[in-house]
Amino acid sequence: MKAVVCARYGPPEVLRLREVEAPAPKRDEVCIRILATAVTSSDCIVRSGNIKMALWLPMRIAVGLRAPRRPLGMVLAGDVASVGDEVTGFEPGDQVYGFDRFGFGAYAESKCMSARGLLAPKPNDVSYEEAAAIPYGGLLALHYLKQATIGDGQKVLVYGASGAVGTSAVQLARHFGANVTGVCSTANLALVGSLGASSVIDYTREDFLARGDRYDLILDAVPVVHRTLRLRGTGGLTPTGKYISVSAGSPKLHIEDLTLLTELTEAGRLRPVIDRTYPLERIVEAHRYVDTGHKKGNVVITVR
Ligand SMILES: NC(=O)c1ccc[n+]([C@@H]2O[C@H](COP(=O)([O-])OP(=O)(O)OC[C@H]3O[C@@H](n4cnc5c(N)ncnc54)[C@H](OP(=O)(O)O)[C@@H]3O)[C@@H](O)[C@H]2O)c1
Repeated sequence: MKAVVCARYGPPEVLRLREVEAPAPKRDEVCIRILATAVTSSDCIVRSGNIKMALWLPMRIAVGLRAPRRPLGMVLAGDVASVGDEVTGFEPGDQVYGFDRFGFGAYAESKCMSARGLLAPKPNDVSYEEAAAIPYGGLLALHYLKQATIGDGQKVLVYGASGAVGTSAVQLARHFGANVTGVCSTANLALVGSLGASSVIDYTREDFLARGDRYDLILDAVPVVHRTLRLRGTGGLTPTGKYISVSAGSPKLHIEDLTLLTELTEAGRLRPVIDRTYPLERIVEAHRYVDTGHKKGNVVITVR
């Protein structure tokens, strides 16, 4: 099968489309024929190998010393091709989507993952491309929003509101009843407003802190490599307010949250945002674009 492998850690040009052996499912695994995947910020971090010192060695041991051992890619949407003997919840032909954060391998024509992993029936009435744009931003946004108590009328500011995590966080915080302010650049103001933010601030023209508003939650969703402003400790919070950065800690992602994302998508309350779509053959271009730190929502890869 075709798969994208990483010849070494480095710039997008280290990615190569190769013929590799197709995987077969273990007893508890599902083998998925992948139709769409996405290039996430995390994929780019893994590919580049640029990671903070404390995580450098653990990551190299886990992912590969000189190059990632497996094809990259964490997000997938496709059809179940086959299942292992012990699998009961899935069968060949099922339309599924999911996220395999540590298993990788989604930049490929097929991949196996645990049936007990973050794998679920694809939401009805969305394409495979749209489905691939949901799990990464959606699951991370839910994880971070759940670190705070978001209720009716609470004020939430999403810094980096136009990215994968940001576009999901705006919609999910809105769903939980919050009054949402989004911060992004000029080109993305209309997009963030259309996702339900009641106020959108252009960081290229205005410092949101100068307004003097106070928030119950500031979710800082700007990837650390692109961050030009340190928000922690700079104010902008109510006395009980929280600042949460997407760079902090190691998110715990749950299948129940993927189910919630499915329900919200089917109910029309969560819209997957796709900026660009590339075929697998143009993965290098897709990575170059995601590396800019200015994608709108998600960059999707079609696999067949
Ligand atoms: N803690 C963990 O273990 C963990 C695990 C998974 C993911 N993550 C992190 O989660 C993050 C996910 O990011 P993403 O995929 O949502 O990123 P993304 O899609 O690339 O979006 C980047 C966002 O940052 C904004 N931005 C870029 N430069 C900016 C600047 N100078 N000032 C203000 N805003 C700026 C962009 O807005 P404009 O384009 O409008 O400028 C956009 O809204 C990554 O940082 C990843 O490392 C962390």
